[in-house]
Amino acid sequence: MILSRLSPFLRNSFLLNLTRDALLAMEPETAHRATIMALKIGLVPQLASEDAPELRTKLAGLDLSNPVGMAAGFDKNAEVFMALGAMGVGFAEVGTVTPRPQDGNPRPRLFRLIQSEGVINRMGFNNEGHEAALQRLREGDRIAPTGVNIGANKTSQDFVADYVAGVKRFSGVADYLTINISSPNTPGLRGLQDKEMLTRLLAEVLDEREKQARRVPVFLKIAPDLDEKSMDDIAAAVTPTRLDGLIVSNTTIDHSSVEGQPNWNEQGGLSGKPLFRLATQRLAQMRQRVGPGLQIIGVGGVHSPESALAKFQAGANAIQLYSALVYGGLELLEDIKLGLARRVRQAGRSNISEFVGERTDAWASGRGILPD
Ligand SMILES: Cc1cc2nc3c(=O)[nH]c(=O)nc-3n(C[C@H](O)[C@H](O)[C@H](O)COP(=O)(O)O)c2cc1C
Repeated sequence: MILSRLSPFLRNSFLLNLTRDALLAMEPETAHRATIMALKIGLVPQLASEDAPELRTKLAGLDLSNPVGMAAGFDKNAEVFMALGAMGVGFAEVGTVTPRPQDGNPRPRLFRLIQSEGVINRMGFNNEGHEAALQRLREGDRIAPTGVNIGANKTSQDFVADYVAGVKRFSGVADYLTINISSPNTPGLRGLQDKEMLTRLLAEVLDEREKQARRVPVFLKIAPDLDEKSMDDIAAAVTPTRLDGLIVSNTTIDHSSVEGQPNWNEQGGLSGKPLFRLATQRLAQMRQRVGPGLQIIGVGGVHSPESALAKFQAGANAIQLYSALVYGGLELLEDIKLGLARRVRQAGRSNISEFVGERTDAWASGRGILPD
């Protein structure tokens, strides 16, 4: 590959242009595939300097060199988790994977909201199934801890059984598992967040985890579209269990924040900048309910060092992002990491973990403010 012979500077320039300008000109799903292919053939932007010690984080027993992870949905089939590690993510989450391969919804199913730097998707868990992802995870050396996000097939007769199958399949290879019950694009899936169903799901999944030779941390990924009662129910279902943590949140079905913009009314989940406020409020509200002991990964609209720091202050132990990379390019990851480390030092502190939860009440009550 000629590109791989270019100087790192030129190669990086090419990649950054590829990810930002050229990709933004392409149909969104084609652009995503082009990015995956570029990463797959080794065109990894070598942006990652050594992570600052201020960013070192412990998450559910995992040692992260930084707390900024790639959210689920980017590497659905475990094709590029190694490249993501080389690029400098603190952790990568592959999936969602379902037991059997499935096509997902018909295209187009991914839309940009350029004006507000949002994304709407109704992909519908398009993925190659457990077996394909398992093979790749077995073969690849990983640089950063890699979690596997597991889901249920659309036509499954028993959603809970699909999650249990995921625990069996991936416990040997995953650094953590995510039980994703919050995609808006699989009819009925979010019903698993209801108290009775969630209690049964957690019991079966965590029971299966204990039977495995290797005990992996398990996270539960929830939606931002929850009222006070639903959040109370989730906290009540989770608290007595040995669940390791929550991921707050998935995309929102509420598109009112982008009303009138091109594509705003496309069916699916909204992510990116327009999701930030809602997802951060839900994160803080869940932190209030579960207390300081449970780990929370904050995701939804992280797009700058300030928005990243706000997630920690709202109560996150680590963060993830996806949509902002569509607009900011892959180098945004480096900007966020450097910006976070600088803010730790400026505050006279020694580690990012010292910010966790210091503004939970403000974000929970909707008084959180993000500087422009
Ligand atoms: C195109 C696309 C596909 C996604 N697919 C998944 C998925 O398969 N499983 C999942 O748990 N979340 C999925 N998500 C949600 C993200 O993991 C994340 O929770 C959400 O986008 C909010 O983060 P962001 O604003 O940084 O993108 C997807 C998001 C996008 C934009």
